[in-house]
Amino acid sequence: MSLTEPPPPVPGPGPGSAAAEAAEQLRDRISADSLTTRRDYLRIVATVSGGLAIGGVGVAAGILHRHGDSETLPRSKKVADQLAPGESVAFRFPGDEDRALAVRLSDGSLVGYSAVCTHLACAVLWREDRGPEGELYCPCHEGVFDARTGEVTAGPPPRPLPKIFLTEELDGSIWAVATARSAEATKDALCRQFGPSRPELAERLGCPGLDRTTENGRT
Ligand code: FES
Repeated sequence: MSLTEPPPPVPGPGPGSAAAEAAEQLRDRISADSLTTRRDYLRIVATVSGGLAIGGVGVAAGILHRHGDSETLPRSKKVADQLAPGESVAFRFPGDEDRALAVRLSDGSLVGYSAVCTHLACAVLWREDRGPEGELYCPCHEGVFDARTGEVTAGPPPRPLPKIFLTEELDGSIWAVATARSAEATKDALCRQFGPSRPELAERLGCPGLDRTTENGRT
């Protein structure tokens, strides 16, 4: 075959085959129903895209891996050299597959969250132009999360975004150091991860369940 010769056509489902019939019915349903709303359309697409839907439901039901599931302290990760007010940076933490976001709010606060929507696992984006001080926005089904707390403020997500704990060094660099599960209290999350590996810090935090007995018998 020469370089200019068009590639042979890819065979599609033959007329009358089950796949062709299903596609035909889907087309008919979308085009015939002039009142089909975007939500209906998305429902149809979600049904057809079984793999995606199952993955999302798995996340929603807690079956698959989620942010903050680790019982041990993750390795700290530098996510930005600096971050100015209104800016965000996307990164992966604690694992290479775990999408996350850090945002510097207009008052200088630094916040970090999982960027995996708690609805059907679409990517959550920072939108500085939305809301009074910007929003965390999921374009798949118009899910909205409060940028200051990660709480759901609109749309179908069932739970807040899991938090990523960030620290800022003197040189302005920003590091991700730990995670929380969705709606988990900060102290519980830090104790869960810092307890085994940083007992002195866990003690300062007042973490419960520490074996406080030392070799001297001091408690
Ligand atoms: Fe549905 Fe995010 S995946 S709102």
